[in-house]
Amino acid sequence: MQALDWQRKIYLNGFAGNTLAIPPDFTQLEQAASRRLSSEAAAYIIGGAGHEQTIQANRKGFERWQLVPRMLHNVENPDLSIDLFGEKLPTPIVLAPIGVLEMAHPDADLAVAKAATCMQIPAIFSNQASVSMEDCSSVMGNTLRWFQLYWSRSRELVASFVNRAEACGCRAIVLTLDTTMLGWRTRDLALGHLPFLHGKGLAQYTSDPVFQRLLDDFLQQPPAARPFITFSTLQHLLGAVRRYPTGSFLTKLRSGRAMGAVSLFSSIYTNPAITWDDLSFLRQHTRLPILLKGILHPDDARKAIDYGMDGIIVSNHGGRQVDGAISTIEALPGIVAAVKDQLPVLLDSGIRGGADVVKALALGARAVCLGRPYVYGLALGGQTGVETVIQHLLADLELTLSLSGHKSVAELTPDSLRPA
Ligand code: FNR
Repeated sequence: MQALDWQRKIYLNGFAGNTLAIPPDFTQLEQAASRRLSSEAAAYIIGGAGHEQTIQANRKGFERWQLVPRMLHNVENPDLSIDLFGEKLPTPIVLAPIGVLEMAHPDADLAVAKAATCMQIPAIFSNQASVSMEDCSSVMGNTLRWFQLYWSRSRELVASFVNRAEACGCRAIVLTLDTTMLGWRTRDLALGHLPFLHGKGLAQYTSDPVFQRLLDDFLQQPPAARPFITFSTLQHLLGAVRRYPTGSFLTKLRSGRAMGAVSLFSSIYTNPAITWDDLSFLRQHTRLPILLKGILHPDDARKAIDYGMDGIIVSNHGGRQVDGAISTIEALPGIVAAVKDQLPVLLDSGIRGGADVVKALALGARAVCLGRPYVYGLALGGQTGVETVIQHLLADLELTLSLSGHKSVAELTPDSLRPA
């Protein structure tokens, strides 16, 4: 729906006494979601690393740039479309990969996949999804989707994930580089809560034939030191068993497969030893474009080109990994200058409204990935909540673009901005 129609609809609904269930303002959206979520889910989704300075820096970085609107440019029906990897996309918005969405809503990734399809917005399936990539793909028709990969300790598993992504219609692989181990996430640590230990966010693994075979081997080994059993441990173990996808509750409990899957996952899911040379393995395994997510330094951007990569996502993982890391909008100009149009540069971390998208595109990003806001929409309203958050953002983007004097996103250049 075009911006003015959406805006009119909201005002007319308000006139009839119906106010919005999904606030258009980010702070109110986050607060409303926080009230809806369990304390563990709120900590996991809202929180970041350390003192959360990078979360704040991501926002402050956008405030350091200002738009300088120009007048009388005939800005009726602006064109939001972009070209990316040979495809024309209706808007420059992509949904970032977000793991463990079952913490936000029981429909989880499936609701997001359906919302992306309704809104014609590409989605990136998370390696830590709550619903398998095949199940999500099955509701998306031809809508663009990519698969996000974490480099595990098993190369066979890496290859299997990539093969499955190709088979279910994903049209790019996004390799996330910034999470070779979890950051120091203070809110989660204070609660002593990690969702994966509860068997959440493991759907890509439990649905994978290589993982299942590794699990068979794993279960042959003598059990490692067992955790100290308290009532709470027992409750969480039973929860993980219930969540494991196949077999009756008793079979799953007796076979130890559900808890085995959690232990095996914990021991292989990331690999801090990977280096640039490992990328050749991925390059040989897929013809799909490969994007590197988590690039913040111009030299790493240049290396991505040298190593035959196809795109970059400038990201600090929404401030969840390195507290004190540079904000992405600050990192963007140096990276854009370094790659000199040789590959597309996308950006995430801190995109909250239309002006943020306009600023990122003006500084050279081809597209942006939306993160936490759509998860808050999911928490508040399932599929419809995600659609509403996207619709708010698109309307804000369209109006900000037009009112600042641009007929299309292609017209945005650094000259559209000035430092604050
Ligand atoms: C993430 N992000 C993420 N990234 C990734 O590559 N794989 C993943 O599984 C996840 N999981 C995840 C969970 C949660 C709860 C959050 C908030 C984020 C990072 C995500 O893709 C993106 O980089 C950030 O969300 C961008 O920051 P903002 O805009 O959400 O603050």
